[in-house]
Amino acid sequence: METSDADKLAQFEARIARGEKIEPGDWMPEGYRRQLIRMIGQHAHSEIVGMLPEGAWITAAPTLRRKLVLIAKVQDEAGHGQYLYHAAETLGVSREHMVDELLAGKAKYSSIFNYPTLTWADVGMIGWLVDGAAIKNQTMLAQCSYGPYSRAMVRICAEETFHFKQGKEMISIYAQGTPLQREMAQDALNRWWWPSLMMFGPHDSDSANTPTLTRWGIKTRSNDELRQKFINEMVPEFHALDLSIPDPDLRYDEASGNWLIGPIDWDHFWQVVKGNGPMNKERMAARRKAHEDGQWVREALAAYAERLNV
Ligand code: 3HC
Repeated sequence: METSDADKLAQFEARIARGEKIEPGDWMPEGYRRQLIRMIGQHAHSEIVGMLPEGAWITAAPTLRRKLVLIAKVQDEAGHGQYLYHAAETLGVSREHMVDELLAGKAKYSSIFNYPTLTWADVGMIGWLVDGAAIKNQTMLAQCSYGPYSRAMVRICAEETFHFKQGKEMISIYAQGTPLQREMAQDALNRWWWPSLMMFGPHDSDSANTPTLTRWGIKTRSNDELRQKFINEMVPEFHALDLSIPDPDLRYDEASGNWLIGPIDWDHFWQVVKGNGPMNKERMAARRKAHEDGQWVREALAAYAERLNV
């Protein structure tokens, strides 16, 4: 007897409840598949666009060592993008379609990559703050119920840890360095603190996708939970370096053990998400140009594949 969709859904949700991984060939609700394509596709776009802010500093790194570390990091981000496009492709969507959606402005990438990298200290602060926030989020996603995404996260988190450590090392040196280095580190913290908190997404009450993602084990923690864990970790670290957090309302709450922040400027966040951030136009222009410049490679590969009949 044909199993009804209601029974299939019940069996699927029982698998999720047992902590089983859902694999590409398994039955899954269309809503699960669509959510994963949205999330993984946007994650992949973020990795590729995320190469741009730091990539701009490769030719201006202050030492050969810093240059080598930065080149390795930016290359890692490209690889993360490839893993994630592959993970999304297991859900039946093509890379071409995902990239077309991004270039047409129909798919998002993380707001954090729409800010300028004004000084070399930004490279260190991105490594420490931005990759630190990414690790917080991606460590959660490594528990995701969808096998290919969860496994991609395990590999990516290992590499992000190196990104985090090299950024923290840089800022720690500059914060204890010359007055100018200290000033650059504080300036970078002032500009990157709030955008990094926005990476975790809107407050849970405004997070339209969280209920579905949580129901089906894609997200196992909420946006606000992860943001609070991140804040609690980062504030003491910056205070230990005598760097100040750009939030006059910041205070420690003994009862909860949390560092409580002032209000996040969600109007600014949504403006950036909608394409009106400081660098959105430049990032998308660079992404479009890279895509156009790569057309000949895609054509050559297609011609070669045709000749091989693959
Ligand atoms: N930037 C852009 N859009 C954002 C956003 C952000 N920081 N936060 C939320 N949004 C969007 C969501 O995509 C959603 O729009 P959509 O429905 O059209 O896609 C809308 O705002 C409402 O947000 P929700 O909270 O309902 O969305 P989610 O439940 O999906 O939560 C998220 C948002 C936490 C970003 C989640 O999608 C997620 O965990 N994604 C996977 C991780 C990821 O994409 N990280 C991006 C950074 S990658 C990175 O940091 C690389 C590293 O190497 C530095």
